[in-house]
Amino acid sequence: MKNCIHIPDDFAGFDPCGFCIPQPLASSIHRVLIPHGMIKDRIKKLADDIFKALVEEEVESVSLLCVLKGAYRFYADLQESLSAVNANESSKGHFHIIPEFIRLKSYENTSSQGEVKIMGIDDLEKIRGKTVVVVEDIIDTGRTMRKLLSTLESHQPKKVIVVCLLRKRTPLSDGYKPDFVGFEIPDRFVIGYAFDYNEYFRDLMPLCVISEKGIENFKE
Ligand code: IMP
Repeated sequence: MKNCIHIPDDFAGFDPCGFCIPQPLASSIHRVLIPHGMIKDRIKKLADDIFKALVEEEVESVSLLCVLKGAYRFYADLQESLSAVNANESSKGHFHIIPEFIRLKSYENTSSQGEVKIMGIDDLEKIRGKTVVVVEDIIDTGRTMRKLLSTLESHQPKKVIVVCLLRKRTPLSDGYKPDFVGFEIPDRFVIGYAFDYNEYFRDLMPLCVISEKGIENFKE
């Protein structure tokens, strides 16, 4: 985990009143944890770091694997930043980016379910012998990522690198650490920037901590 930004447990977050939040969602938000602009800034640096690592390995093409649904926003922003570094004349190197997608599901309400479902794996033969960069939203216990990695390994990629936007500090962690992490965050349930609670809040721009009322109102 290189250059990860550590958000401490005692960080209160920002008052949501200072941000553009749709009125019907306001009572569901406890605090804003990471403003949208800060996420975008951090992603530019992540893209720089990933670019350097791949160029150092003289990689010619990369399968950039989006783990849906939670990573779709992170994926789009990261791919844009990676393409910008790739296109920059002063960058020392270039690789082709091949987009790939997979869908996982393990959460209901605010807790991880025992089973991790993987959908859309039919196409995974395409990663055989390739360098794969897995783009995931968050590592919580680490179980989802371990399951995904063992599935990917069975298709014999050349190398797998994992980048995730967030890593939660939780006592339930199995110790898994991705190669690149945007932010390490306290053990709270977050929504916004494509993070959902029962499929709601993905369209919220900043990353927020859900309120008790939000948990209650959108429970399944
Ligand atoms: P893990 O298997 O416990 O590491 O859980 C990983 C998955 O749980 C992520 O890909 C998310 O879909 C979901 N998840 C974990 N924490 C949160 C959260 O705070 N908000 C929204 N989804 C979460």
